[in-house]
Amino acid sequence: MNIFSAVATCGFGLESVLSFELKKLGMQKVQASDGRVAFETDGAGIARANIWLRTAERVLLVLAQYPAASFDELFEGARAVPWGELIGRHDAFPVKGYTMNSQLSSVPACQSVLKKALVERLAQDHGTRFLTEKSGVTKRVQFSIVKNICTLMLDTSGDGLHKRGYRPLLHEAPIKETLAAGICDLARVFPESCVVDPFCGSGTLVIEAALRAKNMAPGLNRPFAAENYDFLGGAPVFRQAREEARAQIRSDADFVGFGSDIDPAAIETAQANAQRAGVADCVSFEKADARELAAQANDLILANPPYGERLMDDQAVGRLYTEFGKRLFKQTFKGLYMISSHPEFERLIGRKAVRRRKLYNGMLPCQLYMYF
Ligand SMILES: C[S@@+](CC[C@H](N)C(=O)[O-])C[C@H]1O[C@@H](n2cnc3c(N)ncnc32)[C@H](O)[C@@H]1O
Repeated sequence: MNIFSAVATCGFGLESVLSFELKKLGMQKVQASDGRVAFETDGAGIARANIWLRTAERVLLVLAQYPAASFDELFEGARAVPWGELIGRHDAFPVKGYTMNSQLSSVPACQSVLKKALVERLAQDHGTRFLTEKSGVTKRVQFSIVKNICTLMLDTSGDGLHKRGYRPLLHEAPIKETLAAGICDLARVFPESCVVDPFCGSGTLVIEAALRAKNMAPGLNRPFAAENYDFLGGAPVFRQAREEARAQIRSDADFVGFGSDIDPAAIETAQANAQRAGVADCVSFEKADARELAAQANDLILANPPYGERLMDDQAVGRLYTEFGKRLFKQTFKGLYMISSHPEFERLIGRKAVRRRKLYNGMLPCQLYMYF
């Protein structure tokens, strides 16, 4: 059994949540650093990671890590990898990456040196001068050069893992599925939870909460690049991982999800998305003003309200937070987990959070304000 070194990438602030997910999946040597978590596993484990991880952006194999302060070092380190075992004679192999705090600072120049090294090694390994890149299989090579250390990786996910396949329809300023799943983890959504999102937009938070509560693997119904990677076991290991995941769905979960939004178009979108995600039986959506929310004692309220950046101006958002908080904090509920980039959030909503966590919504630094 071949063991591979791998990394799962994630949004800043979600590393500990992702580490926990990887340990739960039985991955070995799990180690978190900024925006990524390293681990070791076999080909079947790579399939399970892609299908099950809720907060990861993608899963990559780590092929080499070496000092590269010059183009010669960069080239030789890349040529030393046995690419012929990973990339077929006619497979496409785009090379992309970034450099940071390093002598080699031009990304296009590094890209072209690495591509040349791969072409040379692949031609040698396959005993040919012609690499057509036309087999229909694409193997994306990623590099990072940080403090003069180059890491070469092979993507196994294909599309980013936030693309679960249930959300072709978007409402304004949707939250990424992976960030929504992270918020569900931090809010401790359980199979018996009652989750309420009064600013639901496309329904992402409610849908991710339902998937988690029912133990439905988020990648069950989408394809992955590594299904074409024979050296990992290819399509059969993914088929097996999907079968195992289907058997683990908890159809007995008592979960209930409820989303509302002031915009009726959002409600239609959320309903269609829930249908596609296979959770329509336990969630419902309705047009309502969040400022009139009547909470119940068992409600776990999750929300991604407007921040005053893309939707609504600063003053209108300030009033919205204040009116929402004024009514809500007079009521009894189980917990409130609200993400916002607004620097005055706690003052406006009228209460200091019990706990806060810095998270990024795309490039935007935010806080998750937790009340429980
Ligand atoms: C940032 S978006 C939420 C996006 C959502 N999390 C998603 O994934 O699509 C904020 C939402 O708040 C809604 N909204 C604004 N004011 C509202 C109010 N007073 N009551 C309810 N919803 C409101 C907007 O229509 C918008 O859909």
